[in-house]
Amino acid sequence: MAMFPFSVSGADLEQWRKAALAAAIEAQVEPSELDWFLQAVANLDRLTLRLNLVAQQPSVGLRVPFATLQTQWQQRLHDRVPLQYLVGLAPWRHFELRVTPDVLIPRPETECVIDYVQTAIAQNPTLAEGDWVDLGTGSGAIAIGLADLMPQARIHAVDLSAAALAIAQQNAERLNLRDRIQFYQGSWFAPLPNLQGQLKGMVSNPPYIPSQEVLALQPEVVRHEPHLALDGGMDGLDAIHDLIQTAPAYLQSGGVWLVEMMAGQGDAVVEALAQQGDYCKIALLKDLEGVDRFAIAERR
Ligand SMILES: C[S@@+](CC[C@H](N)C(=O)[O-])C[C@H]1O[C@@H](n2cnc3c(N)ncnc32)[C@H](O)[C@@H]1O
Repeated sequence: MAMFPFSVSGADLEQWRKAALAAAIEAQVEPSELDWFLQAVANLDRLTLRLNLVAQQPSVGLRVPFATLQTQWQQRLHDRVPLQYLVGLAPWRHFELRVTPDVLIPRPETECVIDYVQTAIAQNPTLAEGDWVDLGTGSGAIAIGLADLMPQARIHAVDLSAAALAIAQQNAERLNLRDRIQFYQGSWFAPLPNLQGQLKGMVSNPPYIPSQEVLALQPEVVRHEPHLALDGGMDGLDAIHDLIQTAPAYLQSGGVWLVEMMAGQGDAVVEALAQQGDYCKIALLKDLEGVDRFAIAERR
């Protein structure tokens, strides 16, 4: 099927765009989202939008009928549906990932996880050849990033949600990485008994928001993203504690333990890692905003 099977005149689209922008401002939705949306659903590039050249186009190709495009924008403004779910895509690192409400929309801060793995393998290149796991893979973002970064590594991606795994598998396929990543349904390490003592690295962006805080998140998140991906129990640390306790049985000596967490959880995570006793080189790492957002450690 053609990529843009529908069309609208540039003049009609520009007229709608002006009204859609005013409606976004009124609904307190970031106005720049409108141009992102139009680039995703219409055959328009950023320059045409920036220079306000839409009205000059005799016809603009659309992926969906013009009426659907208008309904989707209404859903963005009034039902607070994230744009990524409406268009079914999320940019992440240099990938374009398919997303549905079955998976968390991969966040920019999580991109740093791959950079920190890159730093670790630069210091110890043998880490890049062997088995790595992404626990709670969601859309498959981290597993895909790891497979792309380490062509010699075998990547194992786990999620409790079968629906999320189906999306992760589709993403790996679309990016020609399907034969580099194995997918498993189950809880954390449970589906990986054969990897005991084998892993060069364990990476996870687990649910880490305290249960009480989940309901207070912005409507885009609380109403549309999967709560299985968000709720980390009473203090938010249920999954992280589990990963601290169970990972040593799976990691090789020198293997990397790397987890994303919420701002403010760093001290508790460092203390739990130290108390467990099997880790060394425990450190906190910052996200793009300079917030301690990741904990890293090495299996003794
Ligand atoms: C915060 S999301 C992260 C998704 C993806 N890795 C990312 O960074 O965008 C957490 C993921 O953990 C999964 N999850 C929750 N509990 C789990 C469990 N017990 N075992 C495995 N995965 C779990 C959720 O389904 C969700 O996909």
